[in-house]
Amino acid sequence: MKKDIKRIGVITSGGDCSGLNAAIRAITFAAVAKGWDVYGIHNGSNGLIVRPMEYERLTLASFEFPFAIMGGTMLGTNNSPIMAHDNGRREKIDDKTVIERFKEGVTKLKLDALVVIGGDGSMPIIADLCKHAKIAMIGIPKTIDNDAPGTDLSIGFSTAREVVTDAMDKLDTTAASHHRVMLVEVMGRTAGHLALQSAITGFADAVLIPEIPYSYPNLVKHLRSAQRKGRGHALVVIAEGIKRPDGQYSMINNGLNFNGVSQYFEQCLKKDGFEVRTNILGHIQRSGNPVAADRLLASAFGVRATELLAKGKTNRVVVHQAGSVTDISLRESIKLGTTGVNPKGEIVRTARALGIYVGEIK
Ligand code: F6P
Repeated sequence: MKKDIKRIGVITSGGDCSGLNAAIRAITFAAVAKGWDVYGIHNGSNGLIVRPMEYERLTLASFEFPFAIMGGTMLGTNNSPIMAHDNGRREKIDDKTVIERFKEGVTKLKLDALVVIGGDGSMPIIADLCKHAKIAMIGIPKTIDNDAPGTDLSIGFSTAREVVTDAMDKLDTTAASHHRVMLVEVMGRTAGHLALQSAITGFADAVLIPEIPYSYPNLVKHLRSAQRKGRGHALVVIAEGIKRPDGQYSMINNGLNFNGVSQYFEQCLKKDGFEVRTNILGHIQRSGNPVAADRLLASAFGVRATELLAKGKTNRVVVHQAGSVTDISLRESIKLGTTGVNPKGEIVRTARALGIYVGEIK
């Protein structure tokens, strides 16, 4: 049965990225235009779990300072539920208490629905909390990894690609001057979207991604052949989630944190006679003012989320498919899981057609 919306909560959860504030702005502006009250929950679901609760009323005045042009999230975010202790310490709490507190928080704030801007990791967790609290939810995908289910674009990806492309442009000139191989390690966990697309836009010579097996000897052959054809330097993009040439993961790859695999390649390539430098781009990929494409996507996603609620549609996730904004069921989205690069897809073919080494063709 359609429930009239009067008051909604907005949560950003999981890793931050650029475009979150633009999404919060869009939800607020569209909701206020419908006469709804909007509450911004602080630090992901934690704002409803800690006591006293942490939240703020969002109005047009909340955006008088132009947060929406900035990276990060004005609401704060979290990766795991915690609780504030009386002495101010914050510690993890058990699942049962998290569920109880969350439910209590939703009731106390009299929220009719929650709009959750999250990634593939945090979305199912909050969806479960919402189910227990019997509150309607709309999801909005965000992640620089661009691996959120059912959407070909997530908030934050376009800006991250811009950051990587810009870094590669800068590295290209110094690599050319010194005739070096420049390794560029790019985030993305187990998905290679950011690495692959940045390899094309940053005019790389090779890119190694988790979805496509590579051969180290063939990578070396590729770099040598380019040298023989007169290209004295090379840009090699390495997705943080790939295995080392010896088949092992780097020390810091524990399935949650990834870092440092490119340093192993540096050692290997040096032994093979190349002059190599390594650049691990790190969290800079998650920040910077959102590019126009992310502002547009965040705005369209925010508006769509409020439209769905106004129509009484709940437990949906707003997505971008084939150039349009649409929505899928939350259940379907969770079932789909993360979406990696299609090894036979157009972007891989484009990269190969440009002479970029993208691993082995099966
Ligand atoms: O999922 C987004 C992401 O930025 C990954 O690309 C990266 O591996 C990870 O988060 C870093 O997480 P943290 O901020 O916890 O170090």
